[in-house]
Amino acid sequence: MRILITGGAGCLGSNLIEHWLPQGHHLFVVDNFATGKREVVPPVSGLELREGSIADPHLVEACFADFQPEVVVHAAAAYKDPNDWEEDARTNVLGSAHVAKASRAHGVKRLINFQTALCYGRPSMVPIPADHPTAPFTSYGISKTAGEQYMMLSGVPTLSLRISNVTGPRLAIGPIPTFYKRLKAGQSCFCSDTARDFLDMSDFLSFMDAAIGLDAPTGTFNVASGEAHTIQEIFDLVCAHLALGKKDVPVVPPAADDVPVVSLDPSATHMAFGWKAQIGFEETIARQLRWYDAHGVNDVFSHLQAPTMARNG
Ligand SMILES: NC(=O)c1ccc[n+]([C@@H]2O[C@H](COP(=O)([O-])OP(=O)(O)OC[C@H]3O[C@@H](n4cnc5c(N)ncnc54)[C@H](O)[C@@H]3O)[C@@H](O)[C@H]2O)c1
Repeated sequence: MRILITGGAGCLGSNLIEHWLPQGHHLFVVDNFATGKREVVPPVSGLELREGSIADPHLVEACFADFQPEVVVHAAAAYKDPNDWEEDARTNVLGSAHVAKASRAHGVKRLINFQTALCYGRPSMVPIPADHPTAPFTSYGISKTAGEQYMMLSGVPTLSLRISNVTGPRLAIGPIPTFYKRLKAGQSCFCSDTARDFLDMSDFLSFMDAAIGLDAPTGTFNVASGEAHTIQEIFDLVCAHLALGKKDVPVVPPAADDVPVVSLDPSATHMAFGWKAQIGFEETIARQLRWYDAHGVNDVFSHLQAPTMARNG
């Protein structure tokens, strides 16, 4: 299959590359390396890379014209400066509109969009069902929600995935890398009084194998474990992993732009795709920590306002 991945040099995109290349898919990545890394898109057969921003309509058009994708996975997103509304709008709204229009113009068979759980805003229930109204209130959430709507407007069969916190190789955002890095360096930490839904990369990738099927369902679906775990649980697991014993940690109220509990109800996804997360919470975190033991932690970005230490993506 010919799959174009926007933002393919990022965490999810690069894991998809590693997963799909050996399956024989032809992949084309467009990325401006705002948060992604060039070295995760190596010059190997079956993988093409175009450097540039999806905010540039000529670049997007050229990528589609040259590669003629059957499937598009739209993973590019801007989030690293919550005050840079312009860049969030350029990439997440305008860029998504360019990708949506090019997909339509070039007869793409299937468009898969990655959406943040922040699209739900402050939910009226948890776990949040996929038909819960959207009510974003951060620059990232607002711009991603507009982008998602352009995807739906394209007329191309579109699957938009509201994704919980996926953990796995190269994860550089949120509480797990932050605690690991700070505790290893002997620095203090605090936890925001929040809970999140963590999904192991292997579960995400098995879902994506189903998602690219040309006959697979379209619409909006949650891709998540369905369980909420507190940031303090993460802190305790990182301490245990680093053999630091049980440490006291200040727990602070969620900041103004934070959501206390984000947990996504994956039951409709289970019904439609027969998919359900297989890796439990503790093993999910343990896998991530073993990956940091072997590879270290890269830069930590957050799309939320400071304090960023105990947040997640
Ligand atoms: N990782 C998660 O747990 C998670 C959860 C919910 C939603 N998402 C969504 O999944 C997608 C991928 O997230 P990720 O965690 O891999 O983040 P990431 O930052 O690692 O990847 C995003 C990629 O997009 C690229 N990019 C940014 N602006 C661009 C532009 N204008 N043109 C081209 N490329 C651009 C970045 O350089 C980066 O490689 C995003 O759309 C994000 O909103 C991720």
